[in-house]
Amino acid sequence: MRIGIPKEIKPQEGRIALLPRQVERLVQAGHRVFVESGAGRISRSEDREYEQAGAAILSGPAEVFAAAELIVKVKEILPPEYPLLRGEHIILTNIHAAMNREQLDTFLQVGLTAISAENTHRFGSPNCVLAGEVGALEAVRLCLACYGGTGRHFMGHFGESALKVLVLGLGNVGRGAVRTLLGLGATVIGLDVFEGARKAAALDWHDRRMIVGEIDELSNYLEDVDAVVNCVLWPKERTDHLIPREMLGRFKPGAVIVDISCDQGGAVETCRPTSWAEPVYEVDGVRHFCVDNIPGAVPVTASAGYGEALMDKILAIAAKGVVQACKDDPWLARGLTCAGGTLLLEEAARYQKREFTTVQEWLESR
Ligand SMILES: NC(=O)c1ccc[n+]([C@@H]2O[C@H](COP(=O)([O-])OP(=O)(O)OC[C@H]3O[C@@H](n4cnc5c(N)ncnc54)[C@H](O)[C@@H]3O)[C@@H](O)[C@H]2O)c1
Repeated sequence: MRIGIPKEIKPQEGRIALLPRQVERLVQAGHRVFVESGAGRISRSEDREYEQAGAAILSGPAEVFAAAELIVKVKEILPPEYPLLRGEHIILTNIHAAMNREQLDTFLQVGLTAISAENTHRFGSPNCVLAGEVGALEAVRLCLACYGGTGRHFMGHFGESALKVLVLGLGNVGRGAVRTLLGLGATVIGLDVFEGARKAAALDWHDRRMIVGEIDELSNYLEDVDAVVNCVLWPKERTDHLIPREMLGRFKPGAVIVDISCDQGGAVETCRPTSWAEPVYEVDGVRHFCVDNIPGAVPVTASAGYGEALMDKILAIAAKGVVQACKDDPWLARGLTCAGGTLLLEEAARYQKREFTTVQEWLESR
């Protein structure tokens, strides 16, 4: 199969879908790989390394989209890329289709096959962990007085207690956040609706300054913390919020919300996605950090994890085609988003109130 790796065009996004060592595996399996010149530079992978791995370097995105059938990317397809799409394309990337109607409309009009990489990870996306770790670091930075924070040091010294951070959601992202915060010496309150997540956190951090509790306890801690880090996976169809706007009045002066989950109008009502170029905005005196591509700040590590997690899926699609690969791997099938103008991703259909065909029905008809 002809596999294309374009350069990411989202601002401050330096990840690349596959590193040279991963490209080499595809070439060894008999596939042709086309990489856009300079696509790996910020991830510290140069064109010559891709060439040594057996890829062809092409000068721009138009050349890569024209040469390849399977396009592997990290972030969503953005408007400048829309004219490059063709019906024969298979797009494998983080699509976030429910939140991105224009992109989905374009895919359906073009008739291409799209797979949401973010839905295909059986053991959680490796980049989620990094988002939690780096997002927590941002929470600590934004607590510094020079950035408008509460001015409390993350370690407890001279009789002053350490920074106190409320982490909502103890899944992949939440665990990463907790690991960073506790490592730095902060005190953490971790809340989750799921008993399994609470038990795991309590076991892992039994010897550290961590309180684990049910999400209903959120209100008890709000006035006392320097930062809230939201890592909850919020169902797109829910219209209520864990932190509605009126709660912002109860935050300590200088306290910050770092919303790693970053669902507009989700668990944090006042969240709207931001970029690394302008990461923070203020609502009712409370700063919000809502960067939606946090792992893009550590592209060297994030690219390695992303490519590794997708490798088997890319090899399967390239060897058997999308239909057989999805029949053989229910986790890959979970990512099927649309094909031939048919919407297949239930989550996007429900959120945008659109007609859809279930993945199972669609696969059975092939
Ligand atoms: N900003 C970024 O760059 C970035 C990067 C990666 C992931 N994310 C987002 O982070 C979020 C979390 O991802 P994840 O992989 O950790 O998911 P996950 O499923 O592993 O964890 C989510 C946790 O939230 C808990 N939860 C669900 N509903 C809850 C509720 N009402 N109250 C309290 N807890 C609740 C679950 O029990 C679970 O433990 C997702 O929305 C994901 O898209 C953002």
